[in-house]
Amino acid sequence: VMVSGSGSNLQALIDAIEADTLLQAEIIHVISNRENAFALERAAKHNIPTTVSLLKPYKTDGRGREQYDLDLVQTINELQPDLIVLAGWMHILSEAFLTEVGCDVINLHPALPGQFAGTKAVERAFEAYQRGEIAYSGCMIHHVIPEVDAGDVIVQAIIPMFDDDTLEKFTDRMHQTEHLMIVQAVQQIQLKYKETSHE
Ligand code: GRF
Repeated sequence: VMVSGSGSNLQALIDAIEADTLLQAEIIHVISNRENAFALERAAKHNIPTTVSLLKPYKTDGRGREQYDLDLVQTINELQPDLIVLAGWMHILSEAFLTEVGCDVINLHPALPGQFAGTKAVERAFEAYQRGEIAYSGCMIHHVIPEVDAGDVIVQAIIPMFDDDTLEKFTDRMHQTEHLMIVQAVQQIQLKYKETSHE
């Protein structure tokens, strides 16, 4: 699981595994691109190994983003995961990363397919509703391709918006839905793997 922030979606996966609603799953490693991400504490609390992988040194010494991604993918491939879940991971992975990585990569996007790609999607959706441009928003989990927040959708959910919403209320509703969707997405992937291993 790759994270950059609070890690509430990581927590949703941990809780689902511990509650046996996500069967035959194990989070073998958490990678963060921020050293103060609270997600790291969540992982440590559940004895999940963590790695912090910072881009800044690569920018400072000239190795650059491309090398960062290549080193990252090497670290990950050594861990041999079956699946990478980007759960609030705020770094765009290069095409080279996606070519080299040895497993599926899925991402959580806090908006519906084709909407609000990139950062601050929740805020932008909230503002679009205020301007009367959208009537609802949603979230999705999708396969990662080089295009940001695009790729085949695994699960999606509509999230209603109300006239008396505040950004905080809407964000809370978003998170609650994300936490359900991320578990469902992993379950869907597991089913797909089961079907293909039976073919
Ligand atoms: C989520 O809202 C996700 O959609 C967005 O970043 C947030 C991560 O939250 N890209 P958390 O770190 O899982 O709490």
